[in-house]
Amino acid sequence: MPDLFAGEQVITCHDEEVGLRAVIAVDDTTLGPGFGGVRWRPYPSQAAAVAEAQRLAQAMTLKHALAELPYGGAKSVILADGPLPAEGSQERVALLTSYGEFVARTAGTYVPGVDMGTTPGDMQAIRGAGARAFCADVDPGPYTATGVYAAMRAGVRHALGSGMGGVRVLVQGAGHVGANVARYAARDGAQVVVADVDASRAQTVADEVGGTVGDPLSAATDECDVFAPCAVARVITAANAGQVRARVVAGAANDTLDAPGVADLLRRRGITYVPDFIANAGGVLQVHGGEVGWSEEELTGRLERIGDRVGAVLQEADDQGVSSVTAALARAARRLEEARR
Ligand code: NAI
Repeated sequence: MPDLFAGEQVITCHDEEVGLRAVIAVDDTTLGPGFGGVRWRPYPSQAAAVAEAQRLAQAMTLKHALAELPYGGAKSVILADGPLPAEGSQERVALLTSYGEFVARTAGTYVPGVDMGTTPGDMQAIRGAGARAFCADVDPGPYTATGVYAAMRAGVRHALGSGMGGVRVLVQGAGHVGANVARYAARDGAQVVVADVDASRAQTVADEVGGTVGDPLSAATDECDVFAPCAVARVITAANAGQVRARVVAGAANDTLDAPGVADLLRRRGITYVPDFIANAGGVLQVHGGEVGWSEEELTGRLERIGDRVGAVLQEADDQGVSSVTAALARAARRLEEARR
């Protein structure tokens, strides 16, 4: 059973008529309304759905605090019974309208956005039910990639004291984020290796950037200077941390480490780990920029600042003899504490 009181609020939403079961987890609203995406997928149990909503909501609190955004952390999940109803279908709209009514009842404490399984069209349906929802009809991937790449450059500067020229970068996952990270790195003269379970996608991106294709299954422990996990969660674990050969790990994948303590294992081996929740904030910065009307130039500046933040956190970690994750958590805690005061 998850700890139901770990964050501020957990709301279970049930509408028998349309078959809706959803969980809204609001972790912390110190910095503003709890913003976080709606994940729609099957769960093995109700407890698993609640636990995932809470865990992801906590990560959003951290992400927003470190990105200096005026949002708290929240997340919601809709429990799917099987394949999701087709976009635009009556069944889908009915479920999202019902869900939107539950969101509206939070009176702005929770603001949903797009996550795995949901689309900008779904956010429109939620808005139609009277709730606030962020629904920029823009692929956040390239913005996330710009932030990740700024974070990577900061990690390389810190660990190797160099720019990207000649640095061997292994990108795991050639999707919306990874393909762009590969492009940016290649543009700056890095030697890029692309690894994806979709071999043809890896080949296409590798060809485009003048790189080579790597093995997706052993990517986390293969020879390189920088490992950029841009595919799935928990690729570095207590079991394989001892075999990681990269000098720097910097990527987009949420929960790159399967537990925060793995950051200590990497630190002891002299590997610079850039916390995912700082590196991958480009998507939320883009959503916020759209809401408040940032120009493209302003947004780019904010994305580049992710690199400054990474540099500062890595330095703090070194100065205090702690892992980058510990230093980042302390920084987020300080921001929350200042806001409370
Ligand atoms: P995507 O779905 O566009 O691309 C993921 C790629 O990884 C696909 O090409 C897929 O074939 C590949 N892949 C899947 N499993 C793999 C494995 N075991 N080994 C190697 N390749 C594998 O996803 P996207 O949008 O590029 O996101 C990448 C990661 O970044 C995800 O973990 C996501 O949660 C995270 N992220 C993405 C953001 C965004 O703005 N798109 C924002 C914050 C985090």
